[in-house]
Amino acid sequence: MGLAAAIGVMPVAAKPFASPPEDSLDRLAKAAGLIGFGSCIGSTKSTSVSGSFDDAGVRAIHQSECGLLVSSNEMKWPVLRPDAASFAFERADRIVAWGEQAGMKIRGHTLLWHRADRMPKWLVNYDFGTRPGHEAERLLREHITTVCGHYGSRLFTWDVVNETIDPATGKLRETVFTRHLGPAVIEIAYHAARAAAPSAVLVYNDYMTWTEASARHCDGVLELLASLKRAHLPVGQLGVQSHIGDGRCGEVDGDMRFDDAAQRRYRAFLDAVVAMDYRLAITELDVSEDGTPADIAARDAMLADLTRRYLEFMLSYRQLDYVLAWGMVDHHSWLQTRGPRADGMLKRPSLYDPNYAPKPMRTAIAQAFRTAKRG
Ligand code: G3I
Repeated sequence: MGLAAAIGVMPVAAKPFASPPEDSLDRLAKAAGLIGFGSCIGSTKSTSVSGSFDDAGVRAIHQSECGLLVSSNEMKWPVLRPDAASFAFERADRIVAWGEQAGMKIRGHTLLWHRADRMPKWLVNYDFGTRPGHEAERLLREHITTVCGHYGSRLFTWDVVNETIDPATGKLRETVFTRHLGPAVIEIAYHAARAAAPSAVLVYNDYMTWTEASARHCDGVLELLASLKRAHLPVGQLGVQSHIGDGRCGEVDGDMRFDDAAQRRYRAFLDAVVAMDYRLAITELDVSEDGTPADIAARDAMLADLTRRYLEFMLSYRQLDYVLAWGMVDHHSWLQTRGPRADGMLKRPSLYDPNYAPKPMRTAIAQAFRTAKRG
């Protein structure tokens, strides 16, 4: 039984999705000067966002609203690499082919999720032999070259390195790759990606946010971006994941207020990023809701209000290229699998509800695009 069914909210899969009686979010984003709007979708049947591709109602929403697409899990090592010798492209290929047919531009996520807990077990336990540095570099280059080569110019951008800064220390996370290559792992990844995907925008993607608790994370990301520039690495953009709201993303608590002090802090961070000549993208927008009321109208209003204020803030950067949501529909959100609400109700972190109806968050995004004042 799916999660929505388990808690008594049955998605009305048979009900045809009716497009909102106004412009799509992608068209509104383009009118605001962005490349577009989109979302992730995932292919596994499960209670998480990864099951969204198997849901006709979700696919219809993507087709109606989105010009951009990213596969939520299918290009990650644990799915693509069953072992050190093989590649399993089938699940990712289905999503890419569908997105192309629907006329969407497609992102790649991610060539190196640089954290030990996101690597397949075989990689963590891999025998790197008598020349471990050599073997680690060979393995990483082979992965990136093969995956980028498989898709060629069909993907317009790649999250080459994802989440390599440890929010607790502000330093590079330690993995099998840093054990054998040291910090050069990052450089190797970007050089390999540039060689294999010459026209793709190469991104560093992370979940730093505006809270004081995230200050060390922001500092670490700035140091990393500065070091990438010093090394003349071909990195064009910071992916600002944007798992916002009053919850926990990774090890860092968020907050719902996004008050003046928070905006000043975050602006200082983003100003420093763009001063180094990086572009920006919102790559994984959703809103978590710890501590929000059970009342759905009140809750939706709070989540929508934060979304609108956050987007207005981000859209003030002329360097912002696009906005991607991390899922379009509540009942497929990954947040449903990350600890239930205290009252057991379904979380409402996305733009559409389990009946595939647009929510105030969708209206908030549309409004932010319509009124955008680009810097
Ligand atoms: O597919 C298997 C299923 O067969 C199995 O029964 C089930 C048991 O746990 O696991 C399923 O795999 C899960 C997969 O999602 C698909 O549902 C994994 O355990 C689970 O770890 C995985 O979570 C994903 C997570 O990244 C880790 O890859 C989330 O869906 C996905 O939304 C999340 O996305 C990340 C971004 O890539 C990076 N930024 C943060 C964001 C949220 O954590």
